[in-house]
Amino acid sequence: MGVEIRESPVSDAEFEAMKEFVHDYLAASVENEKKGGRMRWYPWHSAEYRFNHILNVVDLAEQIAREEGANVDVTRVAALFHDTAKLEAEQDVHAEVGAQIAREYLLSHGDYPESFTEQVCSAVRDHSYRGDLTDLPLETQCLIEADVLDKVGANGTALMLLRMGYESRSHMDAAEMVGRVIERGEDAQERIESETARALVHRRLKRARWFQEWLEMEVAEMDSATPPGDMTTGVGDD
Ligand SMILES: [Fe+2]
Repeated sequence: MGVEIRESPVSDAEFEAMKEFVHDYLAASVENEKKGGRMRWYPWHSAEYRFNHILNVVDLAEQIAREEGANVDVTRVAALFHDTAKLEAEQDVHAEVGAQIAREYLLSHGDYPESFTEQVCSAVRDHSYRGDLTDLPLETQCLIEADVLDKVGANGTALMLLRMGYESRSHMDAAEMVGRVIERGEDAQERIESETARALVHRRLKRARWFQEWLEMEVAEMDSATPPGDMTTGVGDD
């Protein structure tokens, strides 16, 4: 096939072009849905939210890949494409469809080594895998860990509070809703394998717990989702 193996097959300019492609793909998916008449209620149904989530996952996945010795280019390109199909395909097939989109893009832009394309596509395809992360290549593992991380911590909390508005909930539900973010962080802690992601989850979980404590300290009748006496998560040792 005459493919040349380069150290880092994706230049900054190529990565920027991929970003633009993914951004436009998401925007077009929403545009097409509108024509089909489906209502989108939640902020995470918007192209803006999804693209921002993708950028967060790219940053996190890159950081984890670098620390853990995974192939950084494979990981960041897979992270960029992982949710491209999220707004056009059903949840259970969005990973598979996303992998097809990534494959078509990589085959028609530039001269990427076949092994690179295969690794990127398999990471995108498997990013919804629910089993043990050690079953998967390190790059896929980094992507899944990054994807989970974006939903816990301060950002996950902000999104949950935004959701309350969409569900016409009062601010008195805030502690309970933040409690859900904390539970999600605790589940993530169970699932995550790498030391880098473990440290990141720990820090993010702490932030969500602080927020819950602060709410309870400031709002007289806020229901505590934390058992009394378990208010030991200090502020400032992040
Ligand atoms: Fe995602």
